[in-house]
Amino acid sequence: MAAQFPPLKNDILLRAARGEETERAPVWVMRQAGRYLPEFRKVREDHEFFEICRTPTLATEITMQPIRRFSGLIDAAIIFCDILVIPQALGMEVLMNPAPCFPAPLNTPDDIKKLRDQVDVNKELGYVFEAITMTRKELNGEVPLIGFCGAPWTLFAYMVEGGGSKTFQKSKTWLFRYPEESKALMMRIADVCVNFLVGQARAGAQVLQIFDSSAGELSPHHFTAFSFPSLQYISTNLRLALAAAQIPPVPLTLFAKGANFALASLASDTGYDVLGLDWCIEPSEARKIVGPEVALQGNLDPNVLYGGREAIEREVKRMCESFKGGKAPKAWIANLGHGITPGVDPEDLRFFFECVHLYSAAT
Ligand code: CP3
Repeated sequence: MAAQFPPLKNDILLRAARGEETERAPVWVMRQAGRYLPEFRKVREDHEFFEICRTPTLATEITMQPIRRFSGLIDAAIIFCDILVIPQALGMEVLMNPAPCFPAPLNTPDDIKKLRDQVDVNKELGYVFEAITMTRKELNGEVPLIGFCGAPWTLFAYMVEGGGSKTFQKSKTWLFRYPEESKALMMRIADVCVNFLVGQARAGAQVLQIFDSSAGELSPHHFTAFSFPSLQYISTNLRLALAAAQIPPVPLTLFAKGANFALASLASDTGYDVLGLDWCIEPSEARKIVGPEVALQGNLDPNVLYGGREAIEREVKRMCESFKGGKAPKAWIANLGHGITPGVDPEDLRFFFECVHLYSAAT
């Protein structure tokens, strides 16, 4: 049984995710709880990154920081965690110093043996479920809570590279040298994603987002061959598992960064309710490609937030016009095209929110 929570007072994000017309665009930003906030840096002085993820009171506190600061302007919370908790659940060590680092990456398919055969998500990731339930209570219905996980290809790349990469040489070596083992590993990761996301919905997550942040590193052919089937698998099996567990369905969002070449097939063949966009496609063009049914999320270049108030206003206005096409906003969640970066002045983010409220409004 899902826990009982206070009634939701602001459902504009859920309405847009379901494809409805809204009075203005709902808005939140990826990485909204992060280093650009002085209150986040303060907590980080005393606590390690994964310690915060694993301590529900700290994860709740940090998830709430942008909600408190931007109350009335922000339409969703996203649980404080990281995509790399799945590799940890599979048995890999991950450090954050300050970028992610795996002391023992997967060098050859032989290393797959070192991974945990069966992942009990309640045991390995139960702390995320606890943090979600605690945050839902703390939110008191102010805005919905988003849960998330990394996509199999993006996680596979981290597990093989041992951290972030500019060239993806090691992970692509796997794709070309060991294609079947690579696919099998991604499907194993996909299974953990499904169980992890089911647990998040059961714990109280009201939207679920999958981050395929490295999607655009693959050619269209190889994205279709390697990443796409795992993304399809997750949405299909997640919906089935939620129904089987009698957990009410939640909107599913896919952010496949850099994979604008795949928007048409992602819209027609994967079953996600919302597709996230980076800034490398015009919103009006994306809408033409995906058709009227799928909701879109995005897509301001995060660097606009360094351009000053005049630039922020100009660029938000342009984004709104391109998404709306002179009508009321429909099936659109305003966001950045990737995460907010540490150097942004929080007051400039507030101005971004205000501009979205103003320029996305129905009239
Ligand atoms: O959006 C949110 O506010 C929720 C929290 C969240 C974090 N990471 C917290 C975080 C989310 C949704 C993520 C997702 C994530 N993590 C992705 C997918 C989104 C994307 O940016 O493409 C990826 C690729 C990661 C992996 C990761 N975690 C990297 C590459 C880094 C270091 C570099 C960086 O961008 O900060 C992290 C660390 C991390 N995750 C931080 C935060 C707030 C900063 C770490 C710190 O506090 O020192």
